[in-house]
This record gives sequence, structure tokens and C-alpha cells, in this order.
Amino acid sequence: MLEVTLCGTKLRNPLVLASGIRGNSAGLLIRAGKEGAGAATSKSCSLLAREGHANPTMIDTQGVYMNAIGLSNPGVDDEIYEIREAVAKAGIPIIASIYAKEARDFAAVAARISEAKPAMLEVDISCPNVHREGAMFSSYPKDAADVCLAVRDATSIPFSAKLSPDVPNIGEIARACVASGASCITAINTIGGMYIDAHARRAVLANSFGGISGPAIKPVALKSVHLIRKAIGPGVPIIGTGGISTGMDAIEMLMAGATCVGVGTAVATRKESAPFAAIAKEMEAFMKKEGIKKISDLKLQE
Ligand SMILES: Cc1cc2nc3c(=O)[nH]c(=O)nc-3n(C[C@H](O)[C@H](O)[C@H](O)COP(=O)(O)O)c2cc1C
Repeated sequence: MLEVTLCGTKLRNPLVLASGIRGNSAGLLIRAGKEGAGAATSKSCSLLAREGHANPTMIDTQGVYMNAIGLSNPGVDDEIYEIREAVAKAGIPIIASIYAKEARDFAAVAARISEAKPAMLEVDISCPNVHREGAMFSSYPKDAADVCLAVRDATSIPFSAKLSPDVPNIGEIARACVASGASCITAINTIGGMYIDAHARRAVLANSFGGISGPAIKPVALKSVHLIRKAIGPGVPIIGTGGISTGMDAIEMLMAGATCVGVGTAVATRKESAPFAAIAKEMEAFMKKEGIKKISDLKLQE
């Protein structure tokens, strides 16, 4: 009932572990398979190892989650072993997320990580671009396209471009990515924010700013996915991500136009030992009650 196909790969259900939630290690991606995920995305890895930001890096308050981990990762030469092991043992498709500050480094990381043969790559272009003083690659259609063209030429593995909603026209950015070789779009990444501790008179996160995730961003994610679907048409898959915590959230995301559903923060906040299986069960219960037989029948009324 829940099977879907994502870029030519069959998934038992549309629930995809979102990047960063479980880190870079093979063991944690393998665990997502045991917890019922349809596919698992690794934390973004860069050409060289990165330490990430100082603590505190996470806030969980008033239903809002905000992080500034700073893309800590072991670098692609180590990550390749983790992805290889996950591909061999997870029993679900593995999506290797990559990140860089220049288009040519994206190409280098893509070429190297492809040696581990993940089912897909996810290209995190919602991170700062060194040539634009901190703006994201996904802020401008040309920058987003430049990265996609570089990755397209570096690998034969299908890749998804991961977008930020912090842009005036997300549909235009998605179109530029697809025209430049992306086989899929992942949306959304976290939304930039800030918390202040008035007693301490300072920002709560050591990095001052962080990315908001969890239920607070679901409406933004639904809107973004809907706009992207309108912009790119029906043929290109979308991994709709952002604030998905329950089966009903996942159904709504599919109705907005997503092909698969990324689950991030909820993996840490749901109480079950197998959060993906629990969400899948809730989806099935809704579909049975409504007489809906397959995922592709989940659509908004015209
Ligand atoms: C702790 C944490 C780390 C993350 N790290 C990454 C990352 O390395 N690369 C990436 O593309 N997205 C990263 N994200 C963003 C998530 O993949 C996802 O897009 C976002 O959290 C929204 O989904 P959610 O509301 O289900 O968490 C991270 C999110 C969190 C909470």
C-alpha cells in the first residue's frame, strides 16, 4: 500500500530519514532501516573534516527546535566507508548527502562518495556559498544551477538538490536545479532563526543563529513543496521535508505534491522505538479509512 519509486529505486514506504538527524555513521543509518524507514539520508559530508560550532548547538523550547551544529563531519575520505557499510547492511536505499562551499568542491565530494554506490546523492545547496558572503547557493538560480551542473558532470548517480524556503521564489530555484541535472528536489532545509536569553543578554546558541525544524515549520514546508510541484510539473520527484511528525502530517505532505516524505526532528521526539514504522501505520490507517489504495492517489482536490 505504501510502496513508492524514487529516482528508479523502490522504497517500501515513502518515509525518508532526513539528513543530519542521525549523523554520519553507518550504524545509525542501518538503525533507520530497522526502525521502518523507506530510505535513509546521511548527514552532509564535505571534502575535508569539519569540527562544527561550539556548544550550545541545540535548543528545544515551546515546540520549536533550533540547531547550529555547523555541519560537523569526518570528511569524504572517512565517510565513504560509512556509506559503503550502510549500503551493504541497511536493507533500505541510502542517500548520501554532500556539502561544499564551492561548486568544484561539490563535484569532488560527489565523485568520491559515489564510489560507495549510494542509491542517490543529496546536494545540500542550502548552505553558505563562499563567493556570496554567506548567501546560500540556493538563494540564486544561477548559483544553484552551477552546483547541479558540476555534480551532474561528476557522477552518474541520480541526485536531489536540497532547497531552503528562505528565498523569494523557491519554484524558480527548483526549476533551475532540474534544468541543470537534478533528478529530484528535497525541500525544505531548516529556517534561519535566533533565540535571546534576556537575563544573560546574549544569543542562546554559540553561533547566535540557527536553523528551526520540527512542527513549527510544517506550514512553510507544505507551501514550499506545493509551489515546487507547480513549478517543476509532475515528472520529477520531491522529498517533502519539514515538521513531519505523524502519519497525518505525512499524508498532508504527499497531498501537497511530495513523492516521499523526509522525517527529521520527529525521529528524536517520537516515543516509539521504531518511529518510521509508527508513522507508516498511521498513514495506512488513514488510507484504509478513506478507501485510498496507493500513495499516488493522495492528491488535493482540483
Ligand atoms: C540537528 C540537525 C542537523 C541537521 N543537519 C543537516 C545536514 O547536515 N544537512 C542537511 O541537508 N540538512 C540538515 N538538517 C536539516 C534536516 O535534514 C531537515 O531538512 C530539517 O530539520 C527539517 O525537517 P524536520 O522538521 O523533520 O526536522 C539538520 C537538521 C537538524 C535538526
